[in-house]
Amino acid sequence: MNQDHYSTPEPPAASQPLTIKVAMPDGTLQLTTDRGVFSYGALDLGTKVLLLKAPAAPSTGNLLDLGCGVGPIAITLARRSPGAAVWAVDVNNRALRLCRDNANANGVKNVHPATPDQIDDAIMFDAIWSNPPIHIGKAAMHEMMLQWLPRLNPGATCVMVVQKHLGSDSLQSWLTAQGYPTQRIGSAKGYRILSSRAPTGRDLPPEL
Ligand SMILES: C[S@@+](CC[C@H](N)C(=O)[O-])C[C@H]1O[C@@H](n2cnc3c(N)ncnc32)[C@H](O)[C@@H]1O
Repeated sequence: MNQDHYSTPEPPAASQPLTIKVAMPDGTLQLTTDRGVFSYGALDLGTKVLLLKAPAAPSTGNLLDLGCGVGPIAITLARRSPGAAVWAVDVNNRALRLCRDNANANGVKNVHPATPDQIDDAIMFDAIWSNPPIHIGKAAMHEMMLQWLPRLNPGATCVMVVQKHLGSDSLQSWLTAQGYPTQRIGSAKGYRILSSRAPTGRDLPPEL
């Protein structure tokens, strides 16, 4: 199936749900996947790399899974940080329904699936984790990042997994140039984990 057909509110593919169970260090992840949603019938390898290699997220506050799909990242964040609110954002309504069902099936109560415009403008995030939709193209990806990165609290980080051959190095440079110093903090199986830090007050030039 053409990958572009999942970054859309109502994917055209006929629904054919398929439930998988994946053994992870945090416990088994039970995920119902579907056609028209990213990574049908499997946990994406890049997502798995992120979940295994990323440093611990804050234990409280507001955490964002940007492009949540059926929710493996959001559910894992919610398990690891039960005191946090995990906002699971996607443009695909089928994915959001599955993310909600999967959070329930995995017994987590702190995942809040939502479309981007349903998130209250006043909410600031203590971390963003994402396996981002690189396939939407560079301009759309940059627009999406510039929509959410300014909503990181000062000094908070955005951690993303990106395939090396899908432009992780140029994304790293671009993020740094936007004022979010970005480091490669891990690398496995052709994927890179990038960590971008929101400026703190001290990063700003002194007032004249
Ligand atoms: C690479 S998939 C990752 C899905 C899920 N996090 C996982 O790891 O299985 C990227 C997701 O981003 C979503 N997406 C595309 N454009 C988006 C946008 N502008 N805002 C939020 N999510 C978007 C897609 O629908 C897709 O579910």
